[in-house]
Amino acid sequence: MSDRTTHITYNGTKLSSGQRAYWVVRVWDQEDRQSDNSRVAFWDKGLDISDWTAEWVGAPNGTQHKALENISEIDANVIKSLPALRPVLQLRKDFTIDSNIKSAKLYASAQGVHKIQLNGKYIGDDVMSPGWTDYNQTIQYQTYDVKTLLNNAQNVLDVKLGTGWHSGYVGFSGAYNYYGTDQYLLLELHITYENNKTLIVKSDNTWKVTTGAIMYSDILMGELYYQNRELQDSTQWTAVVTKPINKTVAHIADRAQPIRVTEELIPISKRQISPGVWILDFAQNMVGWVGIKVPKNHKSMRIQLRYAEALNRDGSIYTKNYGSARSIDTFVIEDSGVSGISVETHFTYHGWQYIEVSGFPGEPQLTDFVGRVAHTDTPFTGKFESDNKLLNRLWLNVLWSQKGNIWSIPTDCPQRSERLGWMGDAATIIHTASYNADVAAIYSKWLRDVREAVGNGGHFSLISPRFGEFSDAAPAWGDAGVIVPYHLWRMFGDKQILEVSYESMKTWVADIKAANPNFLWTQMTFANFGDFLEVNAQTPKDVFDTSFFGYDALLMTRMAGALNRTDDVKRYSSRVCVFNRTDDVKFYTELHTNISNAFTKAFVNTTDGKIKGDTQAVYVLALAFDLLPQNLRPLAVNHLVDNIKAHDYHYTNGFISVGFSNEVLVKYGHRDVAYRLLLQETFPSWGYEIANNATAMWEHWDNGLRDKEFNDNEDPPLNSFNHYAMGSIGRWIYQYVAGIDTDNQMVGFKRIKIQPNPGNGVSFVKSSYKSINGFIENSWQTIGNQFVLNTTIPVNTMASVDLTFAKSGKVHEVGSGTYTFNVTMD
Ligand code: BGC
Repeated sequence: MSDRTTHITYNGTKLSSGQRAYWVVRVWDQEDRQSDNSRVAFWDKGLDISDWTAEWVGAPNGTQHKALENISEIDANVIKSLPALRPVLQLRKDFTIDSNIKSAKLYASAQGVHKIQLNGKYIGDDVMSPGWTDYNQTIQYQTYDVKTLLNNAQNVLDVKLGTGWHSGYVGFSGAYNYYGTDQYLLLELHITYENNKTLIVKSDNTWKVTTGAIMYSDILMGELYYQNRELQDSTQWTAVVTKPINKTVAHIADRAQPIRVTEELIPISKRQISPGVWILDFAQNMVGWVGIKVPKNHKSMRIQLRYAEALNRDGSIYTKNYGSARSIDTFVIEDSGVSGISVETHFTYHGWQYIEVSGFPGEPQLTDFVGRVAHTDTPFTGKFESDNKLLNRLWLNVLWSQKGNIWSIPTDCPQRSERLGWMGDAATIIHTASYNADVAAIYSKWLRDVREAVGNGGHFSLISPRFGEFSDAAPAWGDAGVIVPYHLWRMFGDKQILEVSYESMKTWVADIKAANPNFLWTQMTFANFGDFLEVNAQTPKDVFDTSFFGYDALLMTRMAGALNRTDDVKRYSSRVCVFNRTDDVKFYTELHTNISNAFTKAFVNTTDGKIKGDTQAVYVLALAFDLLPQNLRPLAVNHLVDNIKAHDYHYTNGFISVGFSNEVLVKYGHRDVAYRLLLQETFPSWGYEIANNATAMWEHWDNGLRDKEFNDNEDPPLNSFNHYAMGSIGRWIYQYVAGIDTDNQMVGFKRIKIQPNPGNGVSFVKSSYKSINGFIENSWQTIGNQFVLNTTIPVNTMASVDLTFAKSGKVHEVGSGTYTFNVTMD
C-alpha cells in the first residue's frame, strides 16, 4: 500500500508469453475508509524473441517488377524515374477452425508496412504499422484481439504489404531501400480453444503471395491504384519465399499508441482553375490523406489528387516546398458501379491545406472529399481558451503542428522530402507536447531510437532513427538526448525513463567535456546550426554552444538527484545502478559551476553585463540556464529588454532559444514585455503568421512571404507551413498564462504549482490539464483591478497557489478541491 497512483512496478510472479494478468485498485481516504475494488483491468504479456516460431515471408524475386509490365506509359515513366515505387504485395493464408474459440491473439510485424484482413475485415484501426524504428536493430510488433473475426470453419488471412520507411523513399537525399530491398511479413495467430487446445497459424512457406491493385504506395511519393487489378477468385498466387528471424534484432511489442485516423475534415470551398481542374480548400493545414467518393455509373476515370500547403498568386497549388516528395495520389477506375465507390490510399501520407483534383467525373462536390487526419494517437490532455483570438489561434496552431508531426517518431515536418527525427526540433517541443497530450509512451519509444542512433563513442545523432551521413549531433540537437528524458520525467514523473537513458546522457556529457577541457564548447560541434533561423541577429556559435553544455550539466544535476532518492535505490537496485549517484550530483553541480565560470570569463563583460554577440538569444540562454553570477543577472536582463525594445518588441531569436524567452522575462519581472512579444502582430512574431492565415506553426518567422513569392532561394525551398519547432511557446501558455505547472521536486504534478501571470490583452483564461496525477483546471479573469482565480486540484495531490505576480498576492498551500482566490492587481 502506498500513496502512489502511478508508475507502480509489477512485482508478482514472472509471466509467461501471452499470459494475461488481471489487476484491481482499492483506495483508502484520509479517514481510512476503504473503497470497493475498481473494475478489473488486465494486460497481456507479449512474445519474447525466443517464443516466435514463424518465419518472415515475402515475394520471390521479380514479382513486383513483373506486375509493372503493361502499365500505362504515363505511369511507367513515373516509375522509371522513381525506382523505389513498387506494387504492394498481397499475402494470403487459408486455414480451418474446428472447435469453439476461447481466445485469439494475432501478433504481426513487417519489414515494410502492413494492413491485415481476417475474413475480409481489417483486424485493427492502426495505420503504417509496425511503425518506424532502425529495423536493423529493433523492430516492433503489434498484437490484435481477433476472436470475433474468426469463423468456425474456413478462414482467410489477407495481408497488404507496402514499402513504408523500410524500403520506400525516406528523407531528403532520394534515399530508398534504406533498411533493406524487399518487404517481408512476420505473423503469428495464437488461438486457444474452449477445450484448451491451441492452434498457431504463422507466416511460413505455406503462405501465398501476389500483387494486386496498388501499383505503388509510397510515404513521400503517393499512391497509384488500378481498380482493374483488384484480386479476383481466379487470381494466380505463388509460393512465398521465407527467411528466418534474425535473433540479434530485438523484436519488441509496440508500447505506444499506433498511428490512427483521429478526425475528418471536409473542404470548405472549391474553384475551377482550368477545365476539369479544381482546387479544394480544407481551411486547415493537416496531415494524413484524402478519401474520395466517386459518383455512380461513371467509367474509365483517372482521378488525380495533388496536395499543397499554399497557393501561388495565380491560384494554382504551390508544391515547390515539398522538395522531392511527389505527393500525388492517382486512382484509375474502370467503373464506379451502380452505387458509386469510395477510394483512398493505403501507405502514404501528406501535409496539406489544398488539393488539386483532376479527372473527377463532372463537378466535384465538397462532400465527395474527406481529409483524414492521422497521427500517433496520443490522448489529448491540454485545453486552453481565452478572450484573445490571436492567443487562442496560436495555441491551436501549436496543437495542429504537434498532431501532424508525431508519426511513430517526432518529425521536423510532415510534407516535404524530409519528415525525419531531427533531434533539435524534438527538444524544442517536448515540454509543450507533454501538456498537449500524453506523449510519454511515444517519446519513450523514440528515446530507444535515440539510443540506437548514437555513433561511435556514444555521441548522440543529429537525426534519430539515424539518417544518412547526418550522424554526430550538433549543440542543442544532440542535447535532445538529455532534454527529452528530463521533461518526460518532470511532466509524467517517470523515473524509469531516466534510468534507461542515464548511461547515454552521461556518455554524451562526458564526450563534450573530454573534447572541451576548458569548459567552452568549441570542439566537437559538428553541423553546428546555432540558433537556427534567427532574424536580424547573429548569435555567436561559441556562446550558444557553451550555453547548451551548461544546460546539460544543470539538467543532469537534477536528474542524478532524482535518481538518488532512497526509495529509488531500493526500487532499481537489481537493475542499472552501476555507479554512485551521490557522486554524480556533485560532479554535475561542479561541472555546471565550471561551465558558468568559463562562460562568464570568456563571453561576459563583468563591468556592464554585456554578453558577446549582444543578441536576445545570448541573454535568454545565459539566464535560462543559470550561467551568470547573481550580480550580473539584472544587468543581463536589462540588456535583453533593451534589445527587445530596440526591435520594437519583436523577437530576433531562432527556433531554439525562443522557447526560453518569455519564461526568462517573467522570471525577471518583465511580464509586460513577455505579453507584448506574445501578442505582437508584425514581423517577426507568431501573430504575423496568424495574420497571414497560418493554421499551423511555420518553419521560418516569415516563410518567405515578405516581399517575394515564397522562400524559394534554397533548393528545395525550406519553408514548411507545419513545423512544430516554433511551437515551444505552447508550454509558456499553459505554464505561465494559465499558470498550471508541476513542482520541481514532486514531479508529474504530484504537487502542483498554480502560478497565473495575467498581462495586457488577455482578461479571461480557461485551461485544463489531465495530468498523470489527475485533472487540473484553472480559469482566471480580471475585472477592473481585481483578479479572480478558480482552480481545481485533483485527489491525492497538493498545490501551492502563487499569486505573487501582484504585490498584495501570497502563496497559498492547498490540498485537493476547488477554490476561488481574489487578489488586487498593482
Ligand atoms: C529541418 C529542421 C532541422 C534542421 C537542421 C531542417 O531541414 O527541417 O527543422 O532541425 O534541418 O538544421
